[in-house]
Amino acid sequence: MHLRKRVLVTGGAGFLGSFLCERLLQEGCDVICCDNFYTGSKRNIAPLLSNPYFEVIRHDITFPLYVEVDEIYNLACPASPVHYQNDPVQTTKVNVHGAINMLGLAKRVRAKILQASTSEVYGDPAVHPQTEDYWGNVNCTGLRSCYDEGKRCAETLFFDYHRQHKLNIRVVRIFNTYGPRMHPNDGRVVSNFIMQALTGRDITVFGEGRQTRSFCFVDDMIEGFLRMMNHSDGFTGPVNLGNPHEFTILELAERVIRLTGSRSKIVFKPLPADDPTQRRPDISLAKQKLGWQPTIELAEGLPRTIDFFKDFLKAPRLLQGLSHS
Ligand SMILES: NC(=O)c1ccc[n+]([C@@H]2O[C@H](COP(=O)([O-])OP(=O)(O)OC[C@H]3O[C@@H](n4cnc5c(N)ncnc54)[C@H](O)[C@@H]3O)[C@@H](O)[C@H]2O)c1
Repeated sequence: MHLRKRVLVTGGAGFLGSFLCERLLQEGCDVICCDNFYTGSKRNIAPLLSNPYFEVIRHDITFPLYVEVDEIYNLACPASPVHYQNDPVQTTKVNVHGAINMLGLAKRVRAKILQASTSEVYGDPAVHPQTEDYWGNVNCTGLRSCYDEGKRCAETLFFDYHRQHKLNIRVVRIFNTYGPRMHPNDGRVVSNFIMQALTGRDITVFGEGRQTRSFCFVDDMIEGFLRMMNHSDGFTGPVNLGNPHEFTILELAERVIRLTGSRSKIVFKPLPADDPTQRRPDISLAKQKLGWQPTIELAEGLPRTIDFFKDFLKAPRLLQGLSHS
């Protein structure tokens, strides 16, 4: 007999996954972290290993997995363009085959399953801010398509399993999230700027830096995941989770320079292909259904993230490689 809820977190050794595993253990769950360590790191979950209710399985979810669980959080997928474009075929596979495998597992054991979808399903949006009923503006043959279309197909699979097999699904569309444990070399704007500032390199801003992003601190995002999973009236989503407070990329660069006291200079480079010019969630649905909204603004979250990267740079060289599994 299982008194504790048994929860599977795929991608549990990644940035968001490791915080989610930690939080679920705090909530008294029995947690299985499944990861192939493609972008995740053993360091992220090292403090959890001594917990008897925490278990790690090295496994690639493009292959079936057989475990008995009550809930599944499906987070496995490289999230930054540098990583997901490194092996685009595998990116589509992890999104599509991975989703099929996890949905098959959920169907077999009658588990509730949450999909970590993304604001990228809106592509380069023609509507601002983005509400869940906007269908998106996605290029299906571009460099970002493996991720964008992979995540869109995963959503389709989730809703078809829900309609066809009555699976209890939850879909969250995650907007830009940042915080400690982000990968230092993943090219995401927050980690990029902080690393450049702390190492005294030029800060690279693409285009004129007028494109906007909204940044959600990781603790807020994890709270959103739990509220969505625990929601009782069968609310499937999709629901946007993110911070609606918009900043231009240039403003972010200037803030990072100020907070780190860096002497780095800002340099401008051409915009990459399909880079969205504006991205901001409409979180009315999350507020209404989940009573959720971000509570940690950039002024608080950015210094906490900078502290993480300062510690990272102080760590021995051995720990600093790109593949730090
Ligand atoms: N961080 C964000 O801003 C953001 C925004 C939108 C969506 N998301 C989604 O949230 C999820 C987590 O993102 P993250 O920022 O923590 O990224 P991350 O790269 O840190 O974590 C992804 C994890 O999945 C693992 N993984 C990759 N392929 C796998 C496979 N085939 N089998 C098993 N494990 C595999 C990686 O090793 C890593 O630990 C992803 O699905 C991502 O698409 C994140």
